[in-house]
Amino acid sequence: KYELRAIVLSGGLLSVFFFAVLYNSYSRKIDMPTCIPFDKTFEESKVKEIDKGLYEIYLVARMWTFDPEEIEIPAGSTVDFYLTSIDVVHGFHINEKGVNMMAVPGSINKITTRFEQPGIYRFVCNEFCGTGHQNMAGTIIVK
Ligand code: CUA
Repeated sequence: KYELRAIVLSGGLLSVFFFAVLYNSYSRKIDMPTCIPFDKTFEESKVKEIDKGLYEIYLVARMWTFDPEEIEIPAGSTVDFYLTSIDVVHGFHINEKGVNMMAVPGSINKITTRFEQPGIYRFVCNEFCGTGHQNMAGTIIVK
C-alpha cells in the first residue's frame, strides 16, 4: 500500500519536473543552450547585424582570451551567440543574464539573449583551463 503511494508520488514529481522544463523553454522563452552542427566558419570570430536589432556573434574561446573581447551593441538588441573553442574546454558566463555555456573544441553551442538595459556586461570563462584562466574575460557594452 505504501509502496503504491511512493510510486504515485515519485511519478507525479517526475511529471512536474518534466513540465517545468517544457514550460521554461517554451512559454517563458527562457533560452536553453542548443548545440548546432560544427562548421569551420565558426572558428572565425565575427559580430554581424543580421537584421535591425538582431545580432549574430561568433565567439571563439582560446587560452586565455575570447575573440572578440569587446562587443558593442545598442540597447534592445537580441544576440545569437555561437560559441566554440580552438584549444581546450572553456566556459562562457554572463552573470547578469544568467547565461552559462561551455566552449568545446569541435562543437558549436548557441544561445540567444536580449540586452534591454544599457550597461557593461562582463563575460568570463568559468571552466578551469590553465594558468591564465582567471584573466579570461570580455565585455559587452550595451548603449
Ligand atoms: Cu578559459 Cu578558464
